[in-house]
Amino acid sequence: MAGQEGVAAELGISDAIATNICSIPQETIDPMTSVIRVTHPLVDHHLCVVRDAKTKPSEFRAAIGRLAMFLGVRATEDLQMQAVNIRTPLADAPSHRLAVTIGVVPILRAGLGMVDPLMVLLPDSQVWHLGLYRNEETAEPISYYDKLPPGGAPDVALVLDPMLATGGSIELAVRRLRSWGVPDIRVVSIIASQQGIDRIAKLGDDVRIFVAAIDPVLDERSYIVPGLGDAGDRIFDTPRS
Ligand code: PRP
Ligand code: URA
Repeated sequence: MAGQEGVAAELGISDAIATNICSIPQETIDPMTSVIRVTHPLVDHHLCVVRDAKTKPSEFRAAIGRLAMFLGVRATEDLQMQAVNIRTPLADAPSHRLAVTIGVVPILRAGLGMVDPLMVLLPDSQVWHLGLYRNEETAEPISYYDKLPPGGAPDVALVLDPMLATGGSIELAVRRLRSWGVPDIRVVSIIASQQGIDRIAKLGDDVRIFVAAIDPVLDERSYIVPGLGDAGDRIFDTPRS
């Protein structure tokens, strides 16, 4: 891409506008960790809403849903399609439709906040819940709900959890979905920590992770910093004392 001044001249716009255009981050795909950081001005905008400690729960939930929609669109961009011929009221229309079965897998509780937008995009997918919570002392995930049947795994699982912190919860979910027989696992998270991403990469599994932001550190309680706080508590308005 031409430099900033070049862009302004090429497009016939002012330097100030070119500066804004050039400062919009480009999508990054890290081939070592299979992390896709989805960038869009509206993703950045809604991230401000969820990060802001002053955002009230109803606005927080709405912004999580909007972000999930953007991430969901990107995470489904290369789903396998099949050619079909659709008969419209007027004529044949050579078309394409999904050729794979999809399971949406929210991690309870916070993943529930991302289900509705994914179901808008994929109304015929199944929803399989996995219940995990982190032990407050060790941050290790503990499974408390899992009703996956013995067979019948979908072709693609979209694992929904707004936060990928230590990566323990997603690691457990990925292992469980692989043991169920899911061939294609895609994780959709709003904010991931670099440490969590590295942990998932070390699994050597080819799971892909779609995120809106990657934050640098975890604090002593394994919360993502700056992050957005406790996603489940903010979605469900259950402040801890
Ligand atoms: C949060 C979050 C993830 C997990 C991430 O759930 O929603 O599931 O922590 O942390 P990790 O990457 O270190 O495993 P939490 O345990 O707070 O449960 P909740 O959603 O019921 O609040
Ligand atoms: N779970 C959350 O909800 N937030 C964090 O920062 C880490 C785990």
